[in-house]
Amino acid sequence: MRRKVTKAVFPVAGLGTRFLPATKSIPKEIMTLVDRPLIQYAIDEARAAGIKEFIFVTSRGKSALEDYFDHAPELEAALRQKGKDDLLDAMKDTIMDSGAIAYIRQHKPLGLGHAVWCARRLIGDEPFAVILPDDVIAAEKPCLQQMVESYEETGGNMVAAMEVAPEKTSSYGVLDVAEDLGSLVRVKGMVEKPKQEDAPSNLAVIGRYILTPNILKTLNKMKSGAGGEIQLTDAIAQEIVAGGDVFGLRFRGQRFDCGSKAGFLQATVAFGLSRPDLRDEFSTYINELVTSQKAAQ
Ligand code: G1P
Repeated sequence: MRRKVTKAVFPVAGLGTRFLPATKSIPKEIMTLVDRPLIQYAIDEARAAGIKEFIFVTSRGKSALEDYFDHAPELEAALRQKGKDDLLDAMKDTIMDSGAIAYIRQHKPLGLGHAVWCARRLIGDEPFAVILPDDVIAAEKPCLQQMVESYEETGGNMVAAMEVAPEKTSSYGVLDVAEDLGSLVRVKGMVEKPKQEDAPSNLAVIGRYILTPNILKTLNKMKSGAGGEIQLTDAIAQEIVAGGDVFGLRFRGQRFDCGSKAGFLQATVAFGLSRPDLRDEFSTYINELVTSQKAAQ
């Protein structure tokens, strides 16, 4: 029996400079899509995939994240008193079981690989997931759940993968495909943010990973790579060299790059339109906006 994946690491130490000045005082992960912060989408996806322990790799200035996942006694009492059961209900998803959430600080911004390595003692000797909350994925079956189901068949390491335009490969970890099995690919190499002409394919890594604990030993020895940072991509590539299995899963769903302003706006529109309580009013507004813009052209 393969060991179940019950722990997930959420690297949330980044400065979020692309969203300054907003991120001067709020963590990027608390920025909201409609009425839920980015981090809530990541947590919901992890829960759906069977994750029971949530490990946050944070940095200075991220205390709003810790408060978000705690009880808010005054607020809860006020809502209870007013009989606002729907709002109390909406807050339920923000509450974690005691001991289910842990925070580790990454003291220096040394890269994604280093952030994951910071969590090594909490991960221990078992497979674990990594979720990058910037990558929001709308899917009928949540992306990590799709991955866990595939992983139960394959074992090894797995990354979420998506075809991107060739000129965009330099923004991603890119897979060197050994064997294309349909939705799954077996990977023979991975390159972090290659120049377009050096990219081994246009199959990019999206921020969901299932990793074997051996990667932590590899990360122990990693030197900095692209951008002068310790890259998770490089450690996974090392695993392949050492004989480990790595798979990419072309997940079913739509990914939004909420690390960019344009991606965040697209996600806001898409999630707004998908919400039954907002759909009618919001789609009327969007249609009117598009019509008036066309008329003005
Ligand atoms: C990170 C990873 C990269 C991956 C990307 C997905 O890069 O290093 O391999 O393709 O997330 O969003 P970042 O976007 O944090 O620079």
